[in-house]
Amino acid sequence: MDRKDFLRTAGSTALFAFLGISLASCDVTSSSDDETPENGDNGAVTIDGNTVRLNLADDSLSPLRQAGGWMVLGQASVIVVNIDGELIRAFTNVCPHASCRDAWQYQNQRLICTCHNSIFENDGSFVSGPAGRNLPEFSVERDGNNVTITR
Ligand code: FES
Repeated sequence: MDRKDFLRTAGSTALFAFLGISLASCDVTSSSDDETPENGDNGAVTIDGNTVRLNLADDSLSPLRQAGGWMVLGQASVIVVNIDGELIRAFTNVCPHASCRDAWQYQNQRLICTCHNSIFENDGSFVSGPAGRNLPEFSVERDGNNVTITR
């Protein structure tokens, strides 16, 4: 192998190594709730413009079937909470303080953004923290296992 062939081979190896690192980074940064392609349909979550449809019969959404269940659906940019077993509410997952999206907890019927500890009631009304205003709520219609959120 002459010098030119060596450099060509070494360059290809370096390129694959670079791509390997990039793909691994994508895997690490994508969360499990981001597996639905935008405007896609995985059978459980369908996004069509400003409309998000949920099929609660799908096991991936089973937490939303019972009172106190909640999920952040990152691909739809919504937090969904089952308030009392029947009533479902949906909110933006973008915190009104500094726009954190993925640091939510739901405890004692309150939503908490753990980025800087802003707290909201489960109707979105502001309780405390640096957000200083309500968490925007989306309209929700429910027909059995079919939930339609309008963002
Ligand atoms: S971004 Fe949510 S409290 Fe700061």
